[in-house]
Amino acid sequence: MTDLLELERDAPKLHPTRTGATFVPVPRVDIDVKDLCKTFGQTPVFSGVSFRLVRGESVALVGANGTGKSTLLRCLMGLIPATSGKTVLLDQDVAATKGPALRALRARIGLVSQKHNLVPRLSVHSNVVHGLLGRNPGVRHWSHSFAPRASREAAIEALSKVGLDHFAARRADRLSGGQSQRVAIARALIGKPEILIADEPCASLDPAAGEDVMELFFKLDRQEGVTVVFISHSIEHALRYGDRILGLADRQMKLDATTASLTPGDLRGLYD
Ligand SMILES: Nc1ncnc2c1ncn2[C@@H]1O[C@H](COP(=O)(O)OP(=O)(O)OP(=O)(O)O)[C@@H](O)[C@H]1O
Ligand SMILES: [Mg+2]
Repeated sequence: MTDLLELERDAPKLHPTRTGATFVPVPRVDIDVKDLCKTFGQTPVFSGVSFRLVRGESVALVGANGTGKSTLLRCLMGLIPATSGKTVLLDQDVAATKGPALRALRARIGLVSQKHNLVPRLSVHSNVVHGLLGRNPGVRHWSHSFAPRASREAAIEALSKVGLDHFAARRADRLSGGQSQRVAIARALIGKPEILIADEPCASLDPAAGEDVMELFFKLDRQEGVTVVFISHSIEHALRYGDRILGLADRQMKLDATTASLTPGDLRGLYD
């Protein structure tokens, strides 16, 4: 008992009252991009792109076809190298992070890409278990039948979040486009990511399923404090589910504004 009291007395005080200063938590910066530039050969895609996203923010990345949205997300994740500039992701410099360290960093991020990239001949269950491969490289996570029980159960839990737990045994090549998309989302969620990056997550979904997916991302963002970055061609989704909107046009980040300050008309120009 005495020990506990002493520990308590010696513990540092987070709210210093003697100075009268107020304790204000500083939001954690999850993504810090400075002056990023990407060219493919001689062809520039974008340059001078800078922005910061803090933990729990939901950000829509918008722009016309071919403006470089997917390329920007791939650079952020270290999937392709940026030509110049710097990206710090979860406190790590992406360009300086290699091999197992980069794999460990990526395992903290859920990625839903524009192409679903499921393994067609494997079951839905195995495809979702693959979402844990970044943390557990090795054959046990190649198939749900070899995977440890906790991983198999986590896959079913992730599938139930997207309403497809009853499809676990089905082969991935026997799914509709929308179902594949939801399986890809479950695969991104299984590792309980700190950041969720989604490239047009609703592209192949019917309006109701698209709404469900966005509601799910919104819930993860609000209730679990996950930072969400999504690309969308829907002005309505960008305004409803983003706290902030980033817009690419003319090879630059032309817009960086809070959703509350924008109207649909402000965004329409970015799609021309
Ligand atoms: N690997 C590559 N090699 C060469 N050029 C590429 C490569 N990947 C993309 N590009 C080009 O870079 C530009 C940006 O492509 P990106 O896929 O990032 O656009 P996007 O904004 O995501 O478009 P969309 O809305 O159609 O998905 C395009 O002109 C594209 O042709
Ligand atoms: Mg794209």
